[in-house]
Amino acid sequence: MLHCGNSASQRARRANSLEFGGCTGLDAAATRRVADDTPFPMDDFPMSLPNQAPIPELYVSYESAQKLKAEAGNLVSHDLSPRQICDLELLMNGGFHPLKGFMGEEDYDSVVETMRLADGALWPMPITLDVSETFAEKVELGQDIALRDQEGVILATMTVTDKWSPDKAREAERVFGADDEAHPAVYYLHNTAGNVYLGGPVTGIQPPVHYDFRARRDTPNELRARFRKLGWRKVVAFQTRNPLHRAHQELTFRAARESQANLLIHPVVGMTKPGDVDHFTRVRCYEAVLDKYPGSTTTMSLLPLAMRMAGPREAVWHGLIRRNHGCTHFIVGRDHAGPGKNSQGEDFYGPYDAQDLFTKYQDEIGIEMVPFKHMVYVQERAQYEPADEIVDQDQVTILNISGTELRRRLQEGLEIPDWFSFPEVVAELRRTKPPRSKQGFTVFFTGFSGSGKSTIANALMVKLMEMGGRPVTLLDGDIVRKNLSSELGFSKEHRDLNIRRIGYVASEITKNGGIAICAPIAPYAATRRAVREDVEQYGAFVEVHVATSLEECERRDRKGLYKLAREGKIKEFTGISDPYDVPANPELSVDTEGQEVDNCAHQVVLKLESMGLIAG
Ligand code: PPS
Repeated sequence: MLHCGNSASQRARRANSLEFGGCTGLDAAATRRVADDTPFPMDDFPMSLPNQAPIPELYVSYESAQKLKAEAGNLVSHDLSPRQICDLELLMNGGFHPLKGFMGEEDYDSVVETMRLADGALWPMPITLDVSETFAEKVELGQDIALRDQEGVILATMTVTDKWSPDKAREAERVFGADDEAHPAVYYLHNTAGNVYLGGPVTGIQPPVHYDFRARRDTPNELRARFRKLGWRKVVAFQTRNPLHRAHQELTFRAARESQANLLIHPVVGMTKPGDVDHFTRVRCYEAVLDKYPGSTTTMSLLPLAMRMAGPREAVWHGLIRRNHGCTHFIVGRDHAGPGKNSQGEDFYGPYDAQDLFTKYQDEIGIEMVPFKHMVYVQERAQYEPADEIVDQDQVTILNISGTELRRRLQEGLEIPDWFSFPEVVAELRRTKPPRSKQGFTVFFTGFSGSGKSTIANALMVKLMEMGGRPVTLLDGDIVRKNLSSELGFSKEHRDLNIRRIGYVASEITKNGGIAICAPIAPYAATRRAVREDVEQYGAFVEVHVATSLEECERRDRKGLYKLAREGKIKEFTGISDPYDVPANPELSVDTEGQEVDNCAHQVVLKLESMGLIAG
């Protein structure tokens, strides 16, 4: 039976008011005061500057946490998504100060419309606990719920004060600038986030457990304590989701010089843009580059933030987060937290929109912006310079390698010059991302039943096995339904589950350097896109539309299923009584009408060759 009472939260609140802050790196004076909303009296920290004094956390003391955890075992539980775990960690450790929990409806509306909380404090990003409708039905207002990580560990409790169904299109328009699913956060909003938001104050029990790079992770108070200890009055933070190359090093050197500050390299290791270099590789790269900075004025710390790629709003948010982490200055470069192109092929935000918005709110954010223009390499002077400061542009050779070009060179095993990056960083990137012809990949056939997917997929498998080099696995529609999805039918929900399972297996095969060939109907574009995202974290995803017309498939009717579907004896039959979203941009479209199977499979081989996935 589920226990839905309030007693745990009441006790937690009592505990809060007595003994906040026992869990993390606070010193004694701070521990006595973290529950208190008012600023810390500076007489507790006579030598401290505002950036060095502790910041309130939402944790209860160790003893209270143990008690609360035992009691919370009886509460209705919500299993947090990876993004919610990131948000919760920064809520609990003060990274999102002044938020005291996931936003209620009033704060949410105000943030979406005006970038301010209901009390007027500047806060540009909705921090909401999205849940499914089914879960929301189990929760009453005033009830406490337990928030668990993906292994079931209770990290916090939340008293639900608000429950509402948000207008996601409005959120997308107002916060991200367009309701366009080419924006990763808008895509997440419509396809991953639940349809109901819960809000309410959070009581922190324990931080999420991290097994990786533990020594490199710091809470805001741990960083503030470090700055206090080192006497760092001025600290300029550098936000990044990419490996550091020479241009970044020059930019950070200049920023530290210009602001006469110490430098905090503060990379995001929570969630970044889909397709980014994974954080394990990046941290190894940062560690290699750190040696090239002066140790006495530079430090690095990992930030468990889930980015939204919201450009200007995100820059303001990043500024607030860095202020909370004890920094006094913040670097905002070109296209800060940019999401890339929209579905019309245009940039979502202007390259310097983030700097403009930051300037407008700088005083309220409480951190000074160090703006940077695009850095480029001037060959004759053998150094990086801001592009807009080069007065003799016509007389010098300006060099630059874009992110896309770097990815291409890595994929194709081409040279990456020394002026661009550090040999240690390039070696690390090459280790993680060998050339495409040595990486795993997925070929994903989609099309009507009887279109010829399985036949072409089988022929392709044999051709790839003949070439050798990588293991090949065929995940044919029928095989999967027998071995992985035998309990599933053909409703939208079941088809999606079936395809997500195929996507999961294909992404694992791709990650481990194999070739996955999938051949389901996969009628829904959104599900195919989700699978693409799963796979593209690890290797190429090649969508092949087997574009045999419905008429032709029905004429062939190899399995006799179309006849039964027409007679109404098989329900929800794709093309007859169920939809099929024709792929808008497949890597390849093959028409089987009037063509040999061998020729269709060969077209796929040629495509793979042209993409560099198989060596010529
Ligand atoms: S889905 O939508 O991708 O999950 O479908 P999939 O798993 O590829 O379907 C595999 C085979 O199931 C047979 N079948 C149906 N197809 C479509 N609609 C309905 N209602 C249905 N019922 C059974 C069909 O033969 C599919 O095989 P292929 O290889 O595509 O002909």
